[in-house]
Amino acid sequence: HGQPIETDVLIIGAGPAGASLASFLASYGVKGIMVSRDSTSAETPRAHITNMATFECFRDIGLEDILRNVSTPIDETDHLLRWCLSMAGRELARRYTLQLTPQRAGEYKIASPCEHMDLPQTRLEPELVRYATLNGFQVRWDTEFRTMEQGDSRVTVDLFDKVTQQIFSVSTKYVFGADGAGSRVMRHLQVPMEGFPSTQWAVNVFLKADLSHLMKSRPSVLSWVLQPHRDHADFNMVCVVRMVKQWDEWVFSFLPAPGAKEELLSKEQYLEEIQHVIGDDTPVEITHMSRWRINEAYAAHFSVGRVFCLGDAVHRHPPAMGLGSNTSVQDSYNLAWKVAYVLQNKANPRLLDSYSLERQPVGKHMVTRTNEALRRHVPIFEILGLVSPSVPERLEALSLLSANSKTGEQRRTDFQAAADACVETELNGLGIEFNQDYSNSPAICADTSDSAPAKPALEGNPDPVRFQTRTTIPGWRFPHVWLNKAVPGKEISTIDLAGKGKFALFTGIGGGVWKEAAAKLSTDLNVPIRTISVGYGQDYEDLYGDWARIRGVDSSGAVLVRPDNFVAWRHGKAEGDEIWATEKLNLVMRKVLALD
Ligand code: FDA
Repeated sequence: HGQPIETDVLIIGAGPAGASLASFLASYGVKGIMVSRDSTSAETPRAHITNMATFECFRDIGLEDILRNVSTPIDETDHLLRWCLSMAGRELARRYTLQLTPQRAGEYKIASPCEHMDLPQTRLEPELVRYATLNGFQVRWDTEFRTMEQGDSRVTVDLFDKVTQQIFSVSTKYVFGADGAGSRVMRHLQVPMEGFPSTQWAVNVFLKADLSHLMKSRPSVLSWVLQPHRDHADFNMVCVVRMVKQWDEWVFSFLPAPGAKEELLSKEQYLEEIQHVIGDDTPVEITHMSRWRINEAYAAHFSVGRVFCLGDAVHRHPPAMGLGSNTSVQDSYNLAWKVAYVLQNKANPRLLDSYSLERQPVGKHMVTRTNEALRRHVPIFEILGLVSPSVPERLEALSLLSANSKTGEQRRTDFQAAADACVETELNGLGIEFNQDYSNSPAICADTSDSAPAKPALEGNPDPVRFQTRTTIPGWRFPHVWLNKAVPGKEISTIDLAGKGKFALFTGIGGGVWKEAAAKLSTDLNVPIRTISVGYGQDYEDLYGDWARIRGVDSSGAVLVRPDNFVAWRHGKAEGDEIWATEKLNLVMRKVLALD
């Protein structure tokens, strides 16, 4: 124990949550320390589907193109999901990839200027660490969190250096627990985890095998391989095969047979099983094996005093719907501007209370829905007879799929309906990706227009998990719309005009008073507020008319957007001079930044 190292920010964990937080904070010029008990970033792919809402966060700090370059575009893979009897064997059903589902493709294009990408953690994390370190963050590997003590203005954290085998201390203004599903920070804080205890575990085997001869004609990101003809003491009949790199890197996720011991088997045992799952003699090289648990748990709250937790530390769930690292990145995007504004004296520290209030309901909903999505696969096993105890019974049940009988007909209908039900949530969760509602947060100010709609934002949305609600109601994600310049040039998205560490105020013809008010308050409050006027002859034009359709205010009205691209407030129209507008906007900014 020497003198503690002094910093403003200590991030514990360098996974998607910690490393993205370091990057977003660094984009604000905030410097700090990030520690990880591992020696390097993720060595197995794990999370991979990276959705548009997450890419919007990376786009905001200029990382989108870099990350695209190390991703596989989803549309190259055509299909996300299929069910088959082995990789080489019969296919029973397939479903298109996300935005390629012909019936839904347009909605994905409308939702965002970004695209879904297949971006494994092995490629995401190094880029985030690189960005964070190049922009002023220190990263210390082999450094484990041990304990901490919170004082009135600082937290003292004890860390164990695994290289020198010494404990050292860090004195910091804020601590961020991004230490994953086994979070020691959360245990230390004694925050209750709600949900259900985990009952299921699985093994991921990461391997190299050139399956292009099988996959080129039936490409898919995920294959659910069902093997009713196999009876094994260690392995369940279901193996989920996930493409990491087309078509020679894979993760095979094995579920254990009922009653199997929770431990890894030998490489040889996995190799033998893998060969059955592939269904031919393609050479296989196993590179990594790991155990993991399927969880259904979320923290009752995400912060205690000066400690804020994010990512799997506070929401633990199965990979279904691919929301884990996406939600982790969005947690950190929500936190970063608040922390930066507080450290730069632009906001009161009470602004940080809004983090847990805004993100805990999102985490809870995601944990519940991803578990429901996973359970939607169970009817498939029942319909195909996989739940029968003996091989002959199972094979007979499967043969009904091709039987020329009433029962066969019913089985085929039921099976395709069950596959659709899986796909509806698993693939088409555009709503769960975008429909976060922070309207009850203290960092949001309700619509102050006389004609503020009393209707809830989700009215008319038939399924908020599947369908996006695009609105400027305060507390909702600011919608993407293409705008144009009067002179020839590229279209620009509304979300690119907002963000970048600033508040953005959108107005239009007749809304000049808002521009004056925003300029005055930017100076008075020392908070950057960019103003954008949209309409004929304004800063940007709305040639498609989409902005006018979605803005929810008159052309002289105002839509104020937070730096994290959520609508902070809106007002229907300009009803007075710039003094009136400044008073109105001042009240709003003070509420959002907790300055009163
Ligand atoms: P994560 O676990 O990634 O990182 C924790 C960090 O904390 C590590 O750096 C670790 O070293 C560090 N740490 C832990 N304890 C520490 C201590 N005491 N001291 C210091 N450091 C410590 N998600 C998704 O969005 N799309 C997907 O497609 C999938 N697919 C998927 C497949 C499979 C098979 C799995 C198991 C998981 C997924 N996920 C997913 C989920 C995803 O992997 C998970 O949600 C994220 O990794 C969570 O990121 P975190 O940064 O919160 O934790």
